[in-house]
Amino acid sequence: MLLPILRWPDPRLSQPCAPAALDDDLRQLAADMLETMYAAPGRGLAAPQVGRLLRLFVMDVAWKAGAPAPMVFINPSVELLGDRVAGPEGCLSIPGPVTEVERSSQVRVRWTDLDGAAREELFDGFAAICIQHEYDHLDGLLTLDRLSPEARAKAEAEVLA
Ligand code: NI
Repeated sequence: MLLPILRWPDPRLSQPCAPAALDDDLRQLAADMLETMYAAPGRGLAAPQVGRLLRLFVMDVAWKAGAPAPMVFINPSVELLGDRVAGPEGCLSIPGPVTEVERSSQVRVRWTDLDGAAREELFDGFAAICIQHEYDHLDGLLTLDRLSPEARAKAEAEVLA
């Protein structure tokens, strides 16, 4: 089922999310979020973006260039590794501006998957950036919150234009 995607400045996008419990409701939510992400179209979507304040996000960094490879991250933790790099980021909740955000080039992620298994993996490249972006959503942080005051004002004006 396609879910409506909340848009900034909806206050639910700025709230920290609670731990998620793996049950049938969460499995359905993850499936709906993947469907919504592909339709948007996007490569990542966090639960608060569909109004559910839970620590869950979905990602597929492969499907736009080839076969789909959906991933579901339940209660993730992210360890920042590598160098700091700045790159362009969009957000389905902030249609319009692509903002320049500084991130770590590599992350180690620990999470629970849809089978309830504990997973740990290293990510770099676009996946590392996407994970940091989606993880920020779980803490109520948007790309706008990581910009200088000047860059934020410019981006906000672009959204509200
Ligand atoms: Ni986003």
